[in-house]
Amino acid sequence: MGRFRRLRKTDAMRQLVRETILTPNDVIQPFFVVEGKNKKGMIASMPGIFRHSTDLLLKAIEEYINVGGKAGLFFGIPERKDNLGSQAYASRGVVQNAVKAIKKAFPEFLVITDICLCGYMDHGHCGVIEDQVVDNEKTLALLGKIAVSHAEAGSDIVAPSDMMDFRVRHIREGLDKNGFLDVGILSYAVKYSSSFYGPFREAADSSPQFGDRKTYQMDYANQREALKEARQDVMEGADMIMVKPALAYLDVIALLRKELTTPLAAYSVSGEYSMIKAAAAKNWINEKDVVLESLTAMKRAGADIIITYYAREVLQWIG
Ligand code: PBG
Repeated sequence: MGRFRRLRKTDAMRQLVRETILTPNDVIQPFFVVEGKNKKGMIASMPGIFRHSTDLLLKAIEEYINVGGKAGLFFGIPERKDNLGSQAYASRGVVQNAVKAIKKAFPEFLVITDICLCGYMDHGHCGVIEDQVVDNEKTLALLGKIAVSHAEAGSDIVAPSDMMDFRVRHIREGLDKNGFLDVGILSYAVKYSSSFYGPFREAADSSPQFGDRKTYQMDYANQREALKEARQDVMEGADMIMVKPALAYLDVIALLRKELTTPLAAYSVSGEYSMIKAAAAKNWINEKDVVLESLTAMKRAGADIIITYYAREVLQWIG
């Protein structure tokens, strides 16, 4: 029988036997970029997160680097949307221009770019619409073009979040054919159709104008399917696998950690951030403690990497 309290007696003792430690190297900060100059737009449901034009984005990244930030995940919000998402793969699109500027200013900063069409399509879906449904194969062609355009701009890792089948293979082939052998793929392999994305859709102006995303994103009731998705994405060439959302899906993270050897990322999504911010604003919870507890739980479940809107604040707290 154990007398467990022995190892809980002092802070030094607890630190000695602590099993999981959240480090500054584990977190990635998402950033939203808009066209134009001198823009810093608030996102009502995500206090503390902004939509920056590239000039001000560089300042925000500099501040992030100064607190120890090493990696960012970038989302673009174009001025013009159409039914082919053409701004998503334009060589001078909003993300492409931003990435070029970031890489010039901060060559060491790890740039991960989200690949999706929802923010670039006038209908807000993650692919090409044919007869009211998202056409998988037509969408693949566009995703390949987006990936190559991001790589040309200097992206280190592309992160497809569209949930089309075979997109990792298609993107890998496109990158390789164009000489981008070293550009990695972080696949949103296990992305559930989730109501926790609500605030993001305000931030990225990417809500579907009709229907929902249930024909391509996963059903949140399913766990075994997550393993199939993840295994297939690894076979297709994904360098890292992501589970999204995070806090409500720790069982899925734990399962994938057990079954895969690939680095595993958890995306603590917009709704998770907004809930904590809202409760903290009312002084109903201790923000810092709740965030560190949540992120440590994600690591304990098996995540190697955590994408969180709290990354900057976390670095200030633990850096
Ligand atoms: C684009 C995309 C979404 C998120 C990341 N990439 C939204 C969606 O699928 O509707 C959500 C991120 C978040 O909520 O923080 N497909």
